[in-house]
Amino acid sequence: MRQMESSSLAQTKQHTQEKRVTIRRATTPDAAGMTAFLSALHAENLNTICRRAPPTEDEVRISVEKTAADMRSFYLLAMSGDEIVGLLDLSAGENGHSRHSVRFGVSVGKYWRGRGVARELTESAIREVKLWPHFCRIELECAAHNESAIYLYESLGFVTEGRKRKSMDLGRGPEDMLLMALVW
Ligand SMILES: CC(C)(COP(=O)(O)OP(=O)(O)OC[C@H]1O[C@@H](n2cnc3c(N)ncnc32)[C@H](O)[C@@H]1OP(=O)(O)O)[C@@H](O)C(=O)NCCC(=O)NCCS
Repeated sequence: MRQMESSSLAQTKQHTQEKRVTIRRATTPDAAGMTAFLSALHAENLNTICRRAPPTEDEVRISVEKTAADMRSFYLLAMSGDEIVGLLDLSAGENGHSRHSVRFGVSVGKYWRGRGVARELTESAIREVKLWPHFCRIELECAAHNESAIYLYESLGFVTEGRKRKSMDLGRGPEDMLLMALVW
């Protein structure tokens, strides 16, 4: 146990000493790293995101390739050297009535939270979508108790538009889900 704690501390310290992360789009060769990132996230058993089993590497690769071909969706990665430390996935509405709108999800590796990685990822996504013609809305869903996420989104201009009462159970029992959006 002590060994695990000291290795976590060493990892945190090492990360603290590293430079800022860089943000870039995911490409096919990132599939293995993304799968590892998502598996580690799943293993944390978080109560802020859906607990479904993480995708296989093949599933991630197919999704990255489909996304790259789509032009209306993307995966953004936060990289520290070769390591994926944060991931944002974003896709545009498919229906005629929602083609001007995108939705996204973001997550950051355990040892990288609270250091501005999600902010950088989300700001990059906003900057990019604002360049897309005819788009004027970015939306997301968030557990009502996810304070750091809500703080982050609100600080970037997102507004809570609705609350689906007791609509999600992420391991704490049924709780409210916030519907948040940024429009321009
Ligand atoms: C939510 C999550 C993506 C945030 O990522 P992050 O990289 O830690 O976020 P950032 O460091 O960019 O920003 C977090 C902000 O919230 C603030 N914050 C952190 N904990 C907070 C809390 N309990 N209450 C209010 N604000 C808080 C931070 O100070 C920071 O604000 P600042 O930039 O003004 O200092 C990350 O915690 C995560 O991956 N969680 C697990 C998956 C998840 O919940 N995803 C979101 C689903 S909606």
